[in-house]
Amino acid sequence: MKKHILVVPGDGIGQEVTVVGKAVLEKIAAKFGHDFTYDEALMGHVAIEATGDPLPAESLEKMRASDAILFGAVGHAKYDNDPTAKVRPEQGLLKMRKELGLFANLRPIKLFDELLGASSIKPEILKGVDILFFRELTGDVYFGKRERIDNGNTAYDTMIYSKYEVERIARKAFDAAMTRGKKLMSVDKANVLESSRLWREVVLEVAKDYPEVELEHQFIDAAAMLLIKDPKRFDVVVTGNIFGDILTDEASQIAGSMGMLASASVGESTGVYEPIHGSGHDIAGKGVANPMASVLSAALLLDISFGLKEESEAVISAIDSVLKAGYRTRDIADATTPANMILGTDAIGKEILDRI
Ligand code: IPM
Ligand code: MN
Repeated sequence: MKKHILVVPGDGIGQEVTVVGKAVLEKIAAKFGHDFTYDEALMGHVAIEATGDPLPAESLEKMRASDAILFGAVGHAKYDNDPTAKVRPEQGLLKMRKELGLFANLRPIKLFDELLGASSIKPEILKGVDILFFRELTGDVYFGKRERIDNGNTAYDTMIYSKYEVERIARKAFDAAMTRGKKLMSVDKANVLESSRLWREVVLEVAKDYPEVELEHQFIDAAAMLLIKDPKRFDVVVTGNIFGDILTDEASQIAGSMGMLASASVGESTGVYEPIHGSGHDIAGKGVANPMASVLSAALLLDISFGLKEESEAVISAIDSVLKAGYRTRDIADATTPANMILGTDAIGKEILDRI
């Protein structure tokens, strides 16, 4: 198979983990006889430094010209402490989502058995958890009208959804439910918000086309509580942009670490595959970041954008085997992990590559 992949490392540990993600794609191509070509593009703080723009036109052009994008992370401490900064790394990410029409963000929460102890939730509650989140990605407060008024003393952001936006993400989630346990949970705040009442109305309408799927509605607050209390009752979940942002960070703790979770953003054209973790400025440049989320992003890329199931599985089982062998990065190690089994980014990357 001939494909062109764009690597967008971004900022902080994004630079470190995508090196491993890309190496895994190269290894897969060599092993399974595919012809993958690569290019690289700037986004985030590194792009601001180089061009003044968090998503330069040249990067966007390269994105449109690629078959899939392996992305790292964006963000820099400098902006977190400066709420007045007008140009910010995250703007690049949001613009990419909008420009590429990436309205569906898939976040699978699956637990490797070896990491049951790494979570702060009891192993018996966790074992067997397998959740697939569909987070809407190009609407909501992220893209609604926002303004400072009253001489800067008042600010607002608008939570806004249109029917077609809810319908297309709901269809994707129902389709996925049909291939899994035929259960879908829609999460909203319809007891308070008008946009959530529209959300629920549309989901109920779409549900008529999927009579086999058991649909459940939960309010975001209750869903957040249930996720910790009984994560196994979740199968496929569909929710809006901000609720999905928060709920999936919470869900990441089920997997023990944000360093283990990958996501796929898909929609109208090229798909983007990225860890759900951020740029981790506190550990950036130290060579200790867990590259597994980037490697699992590469696995999602192979599966979803290229339809290469066997290749994708080969990547996941390599990770499984590394964990079974007892290797850990700092974030997933515990008191019982011998010091010599705690590896840095490159060393654990090598262990993964050796097993593909
Ligand atoms: C994510 C991130 C982004 C988001 C930030 C970096 C803008 O938290 O991908 O979940 O809020 O969507
Ligand atoms: Mn987030």
